[in-house]
Order: sequence, then structure tokens, then C-alpha cells
Amino acid sequence: MSNKTPITVARGDGIGPEIMDATLKILDAAGAQLDIEEITIGEAVYKSGVANGIDDSAWDSLNRTKIFLKAPITTPQGGGFKSLNVTIRKQCSLFANVRPCVAYAPYVKTHHPKMDMVIVRENEEDLYGGIEYRQSQDVMASLKIITRPGCERIVRFAFEYAKANGRKKVTCMSKDNIMKLSDGLFHKVFDEIGAEYKDIEQEHMIIDIGTAKVAAHPEMFDVIVTTNLYGDIISDVAAEVTGSVGLGGSSNIGADFAMFEAVHGSAPDIAGKKIANPSGLVLGAVQMLVHIGQGKVAEKIHNAWLKTIEDGIHTGDIYRDGVSKEKVGTADFCEAVIERLGQNPSTLKIVDYSKAPAGGIKLPPLKTGEKQKKERVGVDVGLNWDGTADDLAGAMNKCVAPAHNLKLQMISNRGTKVWPDGNPDTFCADNWRLRFMAANENQEVKTSQVLALMVAMNEAGFNFTKSVMLHNFDGEPGFTVAQGE
Ligand code: NAI
Ligand code: MG
Repeated sequence: MSNKTPITVARGDGIGPEIMDATLKILDAAGAQLDIEEITIGEAVYKSGVANGIDDSAWDSLNRTKIFLKAPITTPQGGGFKSLNVTIRKQCSLFANVRPCVAYAPYVKTHHPKMDMVIVRENEEDLYGGIEYRQSQDVMASLKIITRPGCERIVRFAFEYAKANGRKKVTCMSKDNIMKLSDGLFHKVFDEIGAEYKDIEQEHMIIDIGTAKVAAHPEMFDVIVTTNLYGDIISDVAAEVTGSVGLGGSSNIGADFAMFEAVHGSAPDIAGKKIANPSGLVLGAVQMLVHIGQGKVAEKIHNAWLKTIEDGIHTGDIYRDGVSKEKVGTADFCEAVIERLGQNPSTLKIVDYSKAPAGGIKLPPLKTGEKQKKERVGVDVGLNWDGTADDLAGAMNKCVAPAHNLKLQMISNRGTKVWPDGNPDTFCADNWRLRFMAANENQEVKTSQVLALMVAMNEAGFNFTKSVMLHNFDGEPGFTVAQGE
């Protein structure tokens, strides 16, 4: 059996073919063991009438190799086209987005010369499910979904990534002081999984102060793991402060599929001029080699690349008088890296992938927790109302009958309790939440009782917009209290 890893390669659009050519030459010269299948994606495929820029034959290859090294593509302007990246990310369940953000001072200008961090962003959950509702004339709502398997996969991946890449610390960022259930779960799973990685330093930060620290003191961080929205924001902040966005590689990782690329786009303005910097794609390919278990080759390429940057051999995009020594095109840059294979940088930090597992990064099966006892204890009902909270409570209490085993416990507006004992100064929008809890706490609330209450509400002329059943899990409430409750 061949010891070569099958991978799928796409040369892409614009500068894509030029930088892919350089990258493949370097991979080959360094001794990467790869069996390369080439596919065509992007502009040509879009123009042939495939709405997402990727056709069935490309999928055949991707489904076979499950490892994708992708050059940037040009997304055609105009309606009807779907993002190829989003298509691949969704179809292949690429749950982790990984973006190393590194400064290369003094060779590339930055305010934070010691910065060397990796952001691991959850890529499927959170507010990006796009589940939104207009609840009334004035109120819009967006649903944030965080799952235990989702947290477990991303957190475990972050720790495994840290191990494979010789990194020492993982920082979790969340807003669990406010979102106690959703972000609370993320933080909790971080602590649980973290307990299995005793050699790696661990900490948690609230995302707002964490983002501020990334902007002002990025050298504090090593690996950061966070949820989708925070990760989206913080990875742009981090990339920007490196001063070298154009040099970044990135990966999107799934349970058994992974895609590696440069952070930048297809740069049509310089396509064909042979001056493009191949570094982003080269560093994406380095991540690929670590991922598939060829850490030694990855290390050789990465260190030779650092030495090239250090020797002042720069493409036009990073060339600076006084700092750079030689301005080169894509091909000469590629040759300079190849000449330095086997050498290490002398001032920039040497990379070490000796801990990369030989079989590549593989995630163990998800933990299956013990089934918890789920008990219905009440219901939240949302409805539109143009009046005061006290009037709403009075009218609602006329609908409640003993047979429902439910009593109106609280009314909130925009998450703040407004009844009973509301503050008359609290601003109220036109959508309200009414919380009904079991009248007899020893009796579980039945679906039929909730439905009977809703029929009574309907007959009284109330128009509810939403209802959510309230449950305890092993006696712990599966819902939060309102502000001021
Ligand atoms: P871009 O990243 O392609 O270019 C921005 C600027 O950076 C340009 O001035 C370009 O010349 C320069 N640049 C980018 N990469 C460079 C390199 N390797 N060497 C030297 N200079 C480089 O972003 P832009 O112009 O917004 O997008 C161009 C096309 O790329 C669009 O069609 C966009 O949709 C697509 N794109 C594709 C991505 C992907 O396939 N992953 C990611 C981002 C954009
Ligand atoms: Mg973004």
C-alpha cells in the first residue's frame, strides 16, 4: 500500500494557479507524501451554470480524499450565485475554523512583534443558524443555538490542535456571565474536556475583555477557542493586528473532512503578473501536513519559509525599503524557500511539529452523558399587547382555571420582569412574555393542561406568537429567570 495521502487540489481563479503551482513545488521538494487529484471549481464552473461553483465530479474526488487544498476562487458578481465556501462548509460539516495569527517583526511591520496565536472558531452553531422571527410589529428575535456535541467537538479539537502544534495554552472565551445556559455550556464543556489535557495550561475570559486583550496585548495568547460569532469578530481583530493578513493560511475542519487555504482572495488585479505572494497558501498547506500526520515535512517547509522571510527575500506586497533585501516574483520566492529546506530561522521563532500524531489529528467519538430526568414544570407564552403589564396580568388571570395546574408567575418585556411589582419606568415594547408555572409544584405539568390554557386564552381574544415549554433536568431549571425576577 502506498504511504501517500490522497488529497484533492483546486488551482482556483485569479492568482490561484500561480500560487498553487509554487505551493505544490515546495511540497514536492520537501518530500510531502501526497497523491494529488485535481478538480476545477470556481468561476468557470459558476459560468457553466452550476449555482454553487462546484460540480458532481469535484464532489466525487472530495468524497474520496476528504482532504482539500484549495486556491482562492473568484465569486462572480450578481444574483443567483451561492458561496462555494459556505456550500462546502455546510455539506461537509466543517465545524472548526482555524486561523493562526502571527507577527513576523521586524520583517513585516506590526505593533505586536511577539504575537503568535491561533484562533479556533466554532463554525456551525450559535446565531449563524439564521433562525429569526418577527414577533410583533416592533420586535425581532434571533435564536442562538449551542449544543453539547458542538461544544465538545470544537473544544476537543482545540486541545488536540494545541498538542499537535506544540502549543502550551488554550484560552476559552465566552459571555457566560450573561448567557448562563448557552455560553455557560460552552465554558462548562471547556472545563470538562480540559481536565483530560493536564499538560496544557487553560484559562477562561469573558469575550469583551478578551477581545480588548487580543487587540492590545496579543502576545498573551496561544490558542483561543470560542463560539461562532465571537470567533468571527476576534479572528478579524487578531489578523489585523498581526500586520500580515496577506500571509495567513486557514483551515476548516470536520469530523472526517478538512479544507486548507489562504485567507486572502483571488486578487484579480495582479493575476497573471507572476508577482503574487504564495505564503498564505503555503502556510495553509503546512496546516494540512500537520493535520494528516506529516508533521516533519510541515516543520521543514515552515522553518524554511520563516528563514526566507528573515533573509529579506520578499514579494512586492510585503517589500519595504531598508528592511527587505530582494524583491522577487512568485517563482523566485518559491525557489528561495526550496533552497532553504532544512534550515531554521535565526531570529524568528522556530516551529516544532514533532508532537503531531503520525496518523493525523483524529477526534475520539463524542462522550455520551447519562440520560437526565426531564420534567415539565411550566410554559412561557409570548403575545402582542398594547397596554400595561398590570392590565395584561388581570385579563390573563381570568383565563386561568384550576384544571390547568398553571399559575401566572411573571410577565417580562425584553427580558426584564414587569409584573408583579414591575418598575413603572421600564420601557415596554409590544411583545410580552408570560411565564406560567405549575400551580401544584408536586405535579408535573401536562401538555394537555398547557393546551387547555391556550384554548382559554384564544377564546379570551389573546393572540399568542410563541410558546416554549419549561423543563427541569435532574431538578435543575432548563430556563433562566428574568432580569429583576
Ligand atoms: P483579495 O484578497 O483577493 O485582494 C485584496 C488585495 O490584496 C488586492 O489588492 C490584492 O492584489 C492583494 N493580495 C491578495 N492576495 C495577495 C497575494 N497572495 N499576493 C499579493 N497581493 C495579494 O480580496 P478581494 O479583492 O476583495 O477579492 C477578490 C476575489 O477573491 C473576489 O471574487 C472574492 O470573492 C474572492 N475571495 C475568495 C476567497 C476564497 O476563495 N477563499 C476569500 C476572499 C475573497
Ligand atoms: Mg468574518
